[in-house]
Amino acid sequence: MTTATKFQATLSVIAILGSSAFLQSCQYNVEDPCSERTAVYNASVALVLDAHCSGCHGGTYPEAGVGLDNYDSAADATLSGEVIYRIGLPANDPLAMPPYGSFSDCDIALLEKWATLGAPESE
Ligand code: HEC
Repeated sequence: MTTATKFQATLSVIAILGSSAFLQSCQYNVEDPCSERTAVYNASVALVLDAHCSGCHGGTYPEAGVGLDNYDSAADATLSGEVIYRIGLPANDPLAMPPYGSFSDCDIALLEKWATLGAPESE
């Protein structure tokens, strides 16, 4: 082997080791997709509410008078139990939220955990 070939071989070993570490981290996420998120408004809850709820529950006249696009009213509606009740209903229940499409078990678990922690705003 020339020095150049040895160098190339070393590089490919490093590449293989690197990509297997990458694959392992992906597998970990697939097995437990919720584990990485902290149940804190700024870190995760706001993103979930913005993606699934704020389109209707936001702005000057939110649906049902419940604004889920800001911390104060999102925390109130969650700590009162209203949000947890609605997201926990089966998707075909007329009162289920969001009304169209599904809300993942992972997102339900995140909001339930947030409620049990007292709806913290930031870490
Ligand atoms: C497509 C629009 C739409 C989306 C998206 C939506 N909602 Fe609603 N929501 C409504 C409407 C309309 C009502 C009033 C009718 C009713 O009570 O079912 C309502 C009512 C509610 C209520 C009851 C408020 C009360 O005072 O009784 C809660 C809580 C709620 N939504 C939470 C959520 C949450 C949490 C999400 C996201 C996971 C969400 N909604 C997504 C339209 C929406």
